Amino acid sequence: MTLAETVGVVEETAPAKLNLALHVRRRRDDGYHDLETLFAFVVHGDHVTVATANASVFAVSGPFAEGLSGQDNLVTRAEAAFRAAFGIDQPHALTLDKHLPVASGVGGGSADAAATLRALARLHAIDPADPRLHAIAATLGADVPACLLGRAAFGSGRGDDLTPIDGLGGMPALLVNPRVAVPTGPVFAAWDRVDLGPIGEGTTLDRALAGRNDLQPPAEAIAPVIRDVVALLAGQPGVRLARMSGSGATCFALFASEADRDAADQAVAAARPDWWRLPTDVV
Ligand code: C5P
Repeated sequence: MTLAETVGVVEETAPAKLNLALHVRRRRDDGYHDLETLFAFVVHGDHVTVATANASVFAVSGPFAEGLSGQDNLVTRAEAAFRAAFGIDQPHALTLDKHLPVASGVGGGSADAAATLRALARLHAIDPADPRLHAIAATLGADVPACLLGRAAFGSGRGDDLTPIDGLGGMPALLVNPRVAVPTGPVFAAWDRVDLGPIGEGTTLDRALAGRNDLQPPAEAIAPVIRDVVALLAGQPGVRLARMSGSGATCFALFASEADRDAADQAVAAARPDWWRLPTDVV
């Protein structure tokens, strides 16, 4: 199969997701946790393309492609669920250009699955607000509906009960990952089961500043280097907030200005040249 044999290529960005705050409230009987979170998205991420084809193919490229070339991943699972839900026999050629670290708290696979659903909906002229897309997303993972929505939102329940909120309007941010993959399930399982209360009211930034990430202590216990990442970010000039995202290990810092963000990026590069960095903006 070459690209020339495909018809109607659609490309979608799979932006990195941030949890500006993440309050774990309760362990549920189904093994999940009820939480409250402020989802936001940055402008950079992975890229997914879908095209109608005469056979199903999946190809992965990019700096984090390693380990994702198997046929069972969230992109291929999203495509299979989409075809089943909409009764589409036509196979697709799928490509994933992987720029976000895997198992890192910024949505990664969830963002890719959501981008696949958005791209397939466009390819087949399906309304992006079709509730079947949200239903498919919820079966693929707790963060996939938020990534499908793709805009700042308050999430409750498993994180898939969503209410849109104002974003941060392009606030400069730096994402840093110490190149440690932290699996989500064990971090949730290590939560101490102490409910420290809900996310407060106010502007999205005020709510984030007054909030916390309750998964940060259990993630730090599993990967202590996360403390070093947050400490390095928190010490940078012009930083407004430094915190871990999701279940880690990626941490983010929000800055008052692009100059402060870029200076912090250079400072982190100098101090820890082995760490992954993404200077970007939160929308
Ligand atoms: O839904 P997803 O596959 O992304 O979740 C991965 C794991 O994270 C779940 O199996 C569960 O252990 C944990 N999780 C949780 N509560 C949530 C979301 C995820 O306990 N709200």
